[in-house]
Amino acid sequence: MSFDVNNILYGWYPYICLSVFLLGSLVRFDTSQYTWRSGSSQLLRKRQFRWGSNLFHVGVLVVIGGHFAGFLMPDWLVKFLMSPAQHELVAMVVGGLAGIIAIIGLSLLIHRRLIDPRIRNTSHQWDIAIILMLWAQLALGLLTVPVSAAYMGTPLFEILVAYVKGIVLLQNNVAQLLIGTPLIYRVHIFLGFTIFLVSPFTRLVHVWSAPVWYLGRPGFQIVRTRNNYVRPRRDQSLDVTDLSTAPAADKSYRSGVGD
Ligand code: HEM
Repeated sequence: MSFDVNNILYGWYPYICLSVFLLGSLVRFDTSQYTWRSGSSQLLRKRQFRWGSNLFHVGVLVVIGGHFAGFLMPDWLVKFLMSPAQHELVAMVVGGLAGIIAIIGLSLLIHRRLIDPRIRNTSHQWDIAIILMLWAQLALGLLTVPVSAAYMGTPLFEILVAYVKGIVLLQNNVAQLLIGTPLIYRVHIFLGFTIFLVSPFTRLVHVWSAPVWYLGRPGFQIVRTRNNYVRPRRDQSLDVTDLSTAPAADKSYRSGVGD
């Protein structure tokens, strides 16, 4: 076991991030399901939202799909389909174009969130932090494209693929593979794992639910009453079948719950 900085950042840190990602998401799902949402503000500045959101989601889904296919496809299948140079070219061209589309969309979303005071005031700090992190990650990813082009024909791309595969397959000493690689890749990889680390604490958890399950979730409605309705204590969850604690006159309360 090696304690050098490279090994801590690229050997241990990824597993800390992935563990927090998995366990944190599970705990959040178990304890606070109704905070499990994208926190959308789509009713405000609709046009900009629609363009930004569509461009970002299409682009980022292709990039992430490309990362999975490009980095985790078994070696024999890659060799069967294309040469290493073609593999790298596909990653750069498809990933690059999708990355540009995603960053344009995300820039629109960031502009909208920061410029419109109504949206800004209803945003949590994490809402802003996570979109800025994603923007930085896309920008770093895009900056790797010219570097990859300059290193075309060298084993660099295969080394990066071997590193990502090694992390996923729990191989030993994979961090060493990154020693001597250009800094831009290492920063991109570090931020990538950091996004996994923070995502259970942000609106990004909604990626687990995409695309169908989240939409099929039974609805809920928050209803406020003007009467002096005594709230159930924190530890006393509201039993929707027993509305005896609600004021009889407040019919809206009855119709609201569980609709
Ligand atoms: C732990 C997670 C991640 C790892 C290990 C990772 C790794 C990499 C590597 C090694 C490259 C260079 C590939 C090449 O030489 O062609 C790359 C490129 C790129 N990455 Fe990531 N990445 C991660 C997460 C992300 C995320 C979350 C985004 C988007 C928000 C992203 C966006 C990009 C883009 C746009 C490129 C350039 C185009 C491409 O080659 O696909 N990456 N990434």
